[in-house]
Amino acid sequence: MNRSQAAIRVKELKDAINEHNKKYYVLNAPDISDFEYDMLVQELVTLEKKFPHLVTDDSPTQHVGSDISQENGAFRQVPHNYPMLSLSNTYNREELLEFHNRVTKAAGQPVEYVCELKFDGTAICLSYSNGQLFRALTRGDGTIGDDITRNVRRIASVPMSLKPADTFTFPYPVRFEIRGEIFMPFSSFEEVNAHREENGEPLFANPRNAAAGTLKLLSPDLVENRGLDCFLYHLIADVPGLRTHWQALEAAIQWGFPISHHRRLCRNIQEIMDFLDYWDDARTTLPFATDGVVVKVNDFALQRSLGMTAKSPRWATAYKFKAQQAATKLLSVDFQVGRTGAVTPVANLQPVLLSGTTVKRASLHNADQIALHDIRLGDTVYVEKGGEIIPKVVGVDLNSRPNGTEPFRYITHCPECGTPLERNPEEAKHFCPNRWECPPQIKGRIEHFMSRKAMNILGGQALVEQLYSKHIVSDPSDLYFLNPESLSRLENWGEKSTENLRRSIEASKSVPFHRFLYALGIPYVGETTAKYLASHFGSLDALRYAPPAELIEAPEIGDKIAASIRDFFEHSRIIGMIERLRVAGLPFKQEAAQAERISGKMNGNRFVISGNFSRSREEIKKLVESHGGKVLSAISGNVDYLLAGEKMGPSKLQKAFQLGIKIISETEFLALIGELPPEGTLFETGTTETLF
Ligand code: IVH
Repeated sequence: MNRSQAAIRVKELKDAINEHNKKYYVLNAPDISDFEYDMLVQELVTLEKKFPHLVTDDSPTQHVGSDISQENGAFRQVPHNYPMLSLSNTYNREELLEFHNRVTKAAGQPVEYVCELKFDGTAICLSYSNGQLFRALTRGDGTIGDDITRNVRRIASVPMSLKPADTFTFPYPVRFEIRGEIFMPFSSFEEVNAHREENGEPLFANPRNAAAGTLKLLSPDLVENRGLDCFLYHLIADVPGLRTHWQALEAAIQWGFPISHHRRLCRNIQEIMDFLDYWDDARTTLPFATDGVVVKVNDFALQRSLGMTAKSPRWATAYKFKAQQAATKLLSVDFQVGRTGAVTPVANLQPVLLSGTTVKRASLHNADQIALHDIRLGDTVYVEKGGEIIPKVVGVDLNSRPNGTEPFRYITHCPECGTPLERNPEEAKHFCPNRWECPPQIKGRIEHFMSRKAMNILGGQALVEQLYSKHIVSDPSDLYFLNPESLSRLENWGEKSTENLRRSIEASKSVPFHRFLYALGIPYVGETTAKYLASHFGSLDALRYAPPAELIEAPEIGDKIAASIRDFFEHSRIIGMIERLRVAGLPFKQEAAQAERISGKMNGNRFVISGNFSRSREEIKKLVESHGGKVLSAISGNVDYLLAGEKMGPSKLQKAFQLGIKIISETEFLALIGELPPEGTLFETGTTETLF
């Protein structure tokens, strides 16, 4: 690689890593695995070493990723007394050995280490004064963190006050800091997600996202119910006589801190390797997520002399466990077309055993990901099963690339209907624009219409496949005009099946209007948006004829959704389908009761609304009332919630604070009434069921 090629690649990597940092730390919604991320960082580090003139201050190799909340004023930002660093990491043991050799050389004598588990949660810095917790900060950008003390006080395992001081080997100082990790145990994670699924909310992708999202909630009451837990692992305190990290952890246990007992004092590299061997396997039995082992120099004096880089200490490193992964050969690539026309490349692989199941196919994401990793046919690729059910290709073993391969050429035409593919600049995926004739798009729309959260019509993929291929149904409205005779052409179909289907179709006519709206499959209109649109416009015709300016005024509707709605109603085929659905007697209007009262979630609660919101104050008021709440004009002891918008007056805020009134933001309010997922989440469930 020459200098100018390196410059281009370095720029690409920096941009990609910065984008992923934001997704991981701020949005809590990463879209690549930790391993893929670490590989990008490693490539950047290697290139920067080779071409030092390309290192800039803003390179992600020079600072830690920031978790500072973007939401203005959500949390107070407080500088850290000592920078909050990250850890260097490696996935291979040779590099760990190199770390050990470097440290031993610098020490000039055998070195003692403490091996600990690497907990997969959110880093936290706790400050204590006279044995009382007085502040909890997130890592933030390493220099300044978000003050989340109010939330951390609701985590049962974080001590509010320490044990009385007289009996300790080492008494704690008047002021000190202790750092650690807040995480969500698997059991709480499953409970939280089950609850979200029940409420039709998007699920958290993994416990780490769930923990990070929970800590950034604006209502401590909500935090309390999420079952967060904590382990501390780094004491920053001036304690006379305390000379090692191990001693510090033992002292912290006496003081009352939760310190994990899954740790070991290691006197040589073999003992470190034994610890890795043990936990690589045993970690699957733990009730919480870990992603590696942290190896720390035990002696404080040696730690000090080793010092740190801009990003991480030189006296510690993390050995990360690979997510369950396997290497196998990429045989060919298929392209799947979804209901919206989006194209997903899927790898056909030489079958390989991966955590108990044989994997033959895996997602390749999109054209950019294939290009970024330079994945080629015939390559040995790494497949990984992360938190997701569908395995994905996460990298290439360049060393085993056969001769004569060529860069992968992405398809230019739809594999299903031959139409030239298009791509919107802001979207990663190519899509097939042949909305009306492309079979998987048509079938996908019918399946979506019938799915559980939409019209809940029994059937699923297998039935839709038959209905479509036998020309019985070609758009959702046909379901309401089925002729029993044509159904008899279906395979494995009897009278009972016809009767079940008929009943389920009949029942679908009484779903609430917002579900019908969702079922129509307007691009970008998911369940939540459909609810907003339904209660704002009240009927399908009002929505259909609303001018663009009016659409944008509706809650949560931006330019993109508004344009998509406008476009949807401009197609004569859609209008034809809608008119047939009208004749069939589908719910074209919000029932009066639904319009006034969406839920009773806020029953009896009194609100004061102040400041600026993303929608009009009147809208917010309506929303409070539609969920059973009452809106008052002034702060008093009678008020339960202050719904605080941007730029609200400090005196109101202070008064509310003094009266102990709960202060919540717009986002948090929406979360309370179940209208919005409260924080970054990754994927929606909503699978269709096959019942026949
Ligand atoms: S020590 C200066 N110990 O891993 C040393 N970190 O990737 C600071 N982590 O930011 C960290 N378990 O959030 C340490 N036993 C452990 C850990 C641990 C998890 C996290 C921590 C850190 C990140 C680095």
